[in-house]
Amino acid sequence: MLAGKRILLIIGGGIAAFKSLDLIRRLRERGASVTPVLTRAGEEFVTPLSASALAAEKVYRDLFDLTDEAEMGHVELSRAADLVVVAPATADLMAKMAGGHAGDLASTLLMATDKRVLIAPAMNVRMWEHPATRRNLATLQGDGILVVGPEEGAMACGEVGPGRMAEVQQIVEAIEGALSDGPLSGRRVIVTSGPTHEPIDPVRYIANRSSGAQGTAIARALAALGADVTFVTGPASVPPPQGVRVVRVETARQMLAAVEGALPADAAVFAAAVADWRVANATDSKMKKTKGGLPALEFAENPDILATVSAMGAGRPSLVVGFAAETDDVIAHAKAKRERKGCDWIVANDVSPGTGIMGGAENAVTLITAQGAEDWPRMGKDQVAQRLAARIAEALA
Ligand code: C5P
Repeated sequence: MLAGKRILLIIGGGIAAFKSLDLIRRLRERGASVTPVLTRAGEEFVTPLSASALAAEKVYRDLFDLTDEAEMGHVELSRAADLVVVAPATADLMAKMAGGHAGDLASTLLMATDKRVLIAPAMNVRMWEHPATRRNLATLQGDGILVVGPEEGAMACGEVGPGRMAEVQQIVEAIEGALSDGPLSGRRVIVTSGPTHEPIDPVRYIANRSSGAQGTAIARALAALGADVTFVTGPASVPPPQGVRVVRVETARQMLAAVEGALPADAAVFAAAVADWRVANATDSKMKKTKGGLPALEFAENPDILATVSAMGAGRPSLVVGFAAETDDVIAHAKAKRERKGCDWIVANDVSPGTGIMGGAENAVTLITAQGAEDWPRMGKDQVAQRLAARIAEALA
């Protein structure tokens, strides 16, 4: 329910703009008030009159409209809202946001706001897959912009692929999530996930096996409870969750720097499978395969991110959670690891080949705290994530 919430809805110029009229209606049904803003291109697809009629509010259209400035300046307008939503977010709007442009009303509002911003991209599949849009998306996610969609399917232009704006229902749910007053709202949490890749040369690397599935599920569960999540991920095989700030890294040292850059935080969950060693004699050019010769790799120890953050004095998150994947004597090893690393909790699991946990959908974990060990029944990785997120919420309450 969105009773009493005010949403500033920027409608960009795309064929999906007609769905934004339905979005206005659905948001109002849930008790929100909607202030529509039409970009010049947006006006080509929906009329100011229809947006205004559905919102039962004035539509804002142009930065240099002096009457609007006298009525409510753009800074005030962008801050009066609880959430700024851009739907459809065109390739052009995303580029403007990523570049920090402020040349028209929509981009100025996006620059001036102090509220969270959620975008629903919609564009032709080639534009969506264009490297410039990929870069802009990564920049926006790193800036903490929430993203919903796009979906795959047939497009108005006749092509098929990702680029269709998310369904209105999905956008409404994302808005509700972004505005939810969950038990973790206002709390900052860092989650590391995925493997790290340690280069040998520009084309080769060593890595740990990790899909990133458990870390992704944890970040999603924390965000669902309202947490402000920074998700620091190595090259994982599952896509990052929506509604979190995503920082992509490759190596352990980059991961540590990203975690330090995301501090301060109330809690940190280290679910990444970090490579223990990096190649000390990595080369900048590709190593040549010479007959009979084998490369002599030298290794150096990587920083232990969990231990480093656990040992921080001032500025240490009040709850630090590590993981321990073990194949034997799981609880004894995990308890020892908790002491050695100095973290508050360890989520331990048995990853012996027979368990099917590695790469599977389920997990069976033991939560180790200062009070002792607590066995959780075998359940889906999503359920493990939700249970852990609920425990974190309790601990921070
Ligand atoms: O020592 P081990 O790798 O088994 O410890 C696992 C825990 O430590 C995980 O939470 C993992 O994310 C974290 N870790 C880390 N930095 C490393 C190695 C492990 O944060 N270099």
